[in-house]
Amino acid sequence: MSDNLYILGIESSCDDTSAAVLNGNRILSNIIANQKVHEKFGGVVPELASRAHQQNIIPVVHQALAEAGITKQQLKAISFTRGPGLLGSLLVGISFAKTLSIGLNIPLIEADHLQGHILAHFIQPKEGDIATPKFPFLCLTVSGGHTQIVLVKSYFEMQIIGQTIDDAAGEAFDKAAKIMGLGYPGGPIIDKLAKEGNASAFKFAKPNIQELDFSFSGLKTSFLYFLRDELKKDEAFIENNKADLCASLQHTIVEILLDKLTKAAKETGIKEIAVAGGVSANSGLRNALRERARKYKWNLYIPEFAYTTDNAAMIAISGYYKYLNNDFATQDVTPYARSQF
Ligand code: KG4
Ligand code: ZN
Repeated sequence: MSDNLYILGIESSCDDTSAAVLNGNRILSNIIANQKVHEKFGGVVPELASRAHQQNIIPVVHQALAEAGITKQQLKAISFTRGPGLLGSLLVGISFAKTLSIGLNIPLIEADHLQGHILAHFIQPKEGDIATPKFPFLCLTVSGGHTQIVLVKSYFEMQIIGQTIDDAAGEAFDKAAKIMGLGYPGGPIIDKLAKEGNASAFKFAKPNIQELDFSFSGLKTSFLYFLRDELKKDEAFIENNKADLCASLQHTIVEILLDKLTKAAKETGIKEIAVAGGVSANSGLRNALRERARKYKWNLYIPEFAYTTDNAAMIAISGYYKYLNNDFATQDVTPYARSQF
């Protein structure tokens, strides 16, 4: 690590405040402050998220610099999430990044949150090298707000070839968990309970959607009605079948995702396959992906757990590649709520 190209990444698009420092493409620190304040509401409350970002941002950045073992004067650029996300949340990170870039007189770089999730595959550890996907590759991006199959032609040339027409996969997990009274965010809770359950205990219909697109709202509704009917017969139905319900639901969501990903791989002839976003932490999805990779001879890339859910390392690596392209943002940059790529 001789180039000392230190880049600070700032992520504040939803309910995690995060700061990370990279040296070139090597990770030095990645600090994430989760916001507990949303738990009792069963979902992210935008007003509260903005305020928590205001509280967290300075300590999180200090910690990221301290852990990286550098001072802010050594930074060469600041990369921030411009969108998509909650506007109030994004504004905190953007305003902070702008101010710091003026104070330190270093360039500002804007990053797209969804591209960041994908580019997280290129983050190298402090020492040694990990295998990275070869262009062109397909990336299944599955998070709380998005479900997409992206054809990645180069670092910043990406084409969405399939996406959800309603709920995202993470939303399907979170809403189902809410229906069962399991807490928020529901994805990790369902994942854990599913490990003890039987995935074929209950059958839920898969949607019939055109081309490479997805739909999850029908699954949520049929899950809700199914439970309503069962609860009429047995008040303790959820309690008595929790693990089987979680395993069966998770299995259905994973099948919906992987059927379309397999179709995309067949249609494009691409065997370089990656997965990204919060739902890529799911153990059922990871196992099923490995199985399909064996079957279809894919080269599969699964991110480290730390880079699956929202983090600033993915924003810093986006910043690194933009820095190499001299692609800088100006001080009048504003956030966007919907993705621009
Ligand atoms: O990427 P992310 O941190 O934030 C967004 O950009 O949305 O994704 C959050 C989503 C939530 O819906 C959460 O329930 C889901 O990722 N998630 C999981 C798991 N861990 C996080 N879903 C299923 N299984 C998991 N282990
Ligand atoms: Zn995300």
